[in-house]
Amino acid sequence: MTTFGTPLSPHATKVMLLGSGELGKEVLIALQRLGVETIAVDRYENAPGQQVAHHRRTITMSDPAQLKALIEAERPHLVVPEIEAIATPMLEELEAAGTVRVIPTARAARLTMDREGIRVLAAETLALPTSPYQFCNSLDELQAAIDAGIGYPCIVKPVMSSSGKGQSKIDGPGDVKTAWDYAMAGGRVSHGRVIVEGFIDFDYEITQLTVRAVGADGQIETHFCDPIGHVQVSGDYVESWQPHPMHPAALEKSRQIAKAVTDNLGGQGLFGVELFVKGQDVWFSEVSPRPHDTGLVTLCTQNQSEFELHARAILGLPVDTSLRNPGASAVIYGGVDAVGIVFDGVEEALRVPDTDLRLFGKPESFTKRRMGVALARAADVHTARDNAKLAASKVKPRKVITP
Ligand SMILES: Nc1ncnc2c1ncn2[C@@H]1O[C@H](COP(=O)(O)OP(=O)(O)OP(=O)(O)O)[C@@H](O)[C@H]1O
Ligand SMILES: [Mg+2]
Repeated sequence: MTTFGTPLSPHATKVMLLGSGELGKEVLIALQRLGVETIAVDRYENAPGQQVAHHRRTITMSDPAQLKALIEAERPHLVVPEIEAIATPMLEELEAAGTVRVIPTARAARLTMDREGIRVLAAETLALPTSPYQFCNSLDELQAAIDAGIGYPCIVKPVMSSSGKGQSKIDGPGDVKTAWDYAMAGGRVSHGRVIVEGFIDFDYEITQLTVRAVGADGQIETHFCDPIGHVQVSGDYVESWQPHPMHPAALEKSRQIAKAVTDNLGGQGLFGVELFVKGQDVWFSEVSPRPHDTGLVTLCTQNQSEFELHARAILGLPVDTSLRNPGASAVIYGGVDAVGIVFDGVEEALRVPDTDLRLFGKPESFTKRRMGVALARAADVHTARDNAKLAASKVKPRKVITP
């Protein structure tokens, strides 16, 4: 796609985002800057991305009929999934019929929509190193899998969940039922299937952002960003930084794994490959065929953020994955359950040197909902992390008491 149209004209280049959270919002802004006509879809009104798009649509994206009707009505050139909970078999059908191109491919969206498709691909088809694992459909099967070799400690996760929902660590036999019940309550679709993984006692974990983009000769080239280090609390990212220092052998292995997975998933776009590292050993954990939450840090570290890279790659444009300066991000949680909250302390936050802020504009806050992120750049990652955390701590979300 080399010719670009004028938005809101018959020759517009149209892109539809399926999911319009904080990550989709930044992709939409990058697309807007290139004069692309954007359609922001989400399951609720006024999602962050809907606030910056030409068109907003609210549907249940896991309902194949609703998804099909919307895509056929809007006829976008590209459909860009931003979340996992989408009726991906319908995307495959529409892609096969030539109705639309899905980013990176409809098959990639299907394989990564739950933990099973991608784990089987990585561990069994591609023979990449992963934690030992087993899929289980009942408490009895879970106990049997642990006894048969997964052992303690281990981690239980609903097959369909993200951001650590329903995920917990089992340290011994006394935790097994609690973990099972927690997974059943936290899964996105209650079909009662979990993955149990042996616990990897890693030194650190990284996100290897990997971009598949068209080169000057028309062939797909793979580009790597600098590794992103991060801290997860209860399976949810709270802090990330770039670059994360790595032993050259571990970096090389990380990129080999990232290349193998993204080559197989195919298409064009940016991927977030999650890896565990201990010494020179590297394990594949999972992959997002789209910008990654820990990659929010690239808004202040790279010449092109992960969102700009994604926008460029999907449109067939050249990309530049180079680092501009070290930096860090720190998450701002809602802290309260309320609609239409206010934020105190924004000015104080931005007085911390070399910082920036994103407030996502989510209509409703939950205690553990990500409402914003603080960004800091510095000469070294250590200073950047301190400043990002300091800036984040100054922002105080507050419930408004209306008389
Ligand atoms: N087998 C494991 N051994 C050790 N730690 C693990 C293992 N699996 C997961 N973790 C820890 O839990 C975090 C979240 O796990 P995972 O990425 O599988 O969940 P998720 O719900 O998909 O998270 P997200 O959607 O935020 O990426 C990992 O980043 C890691 O810190
Ligand atoms: Mg993850």
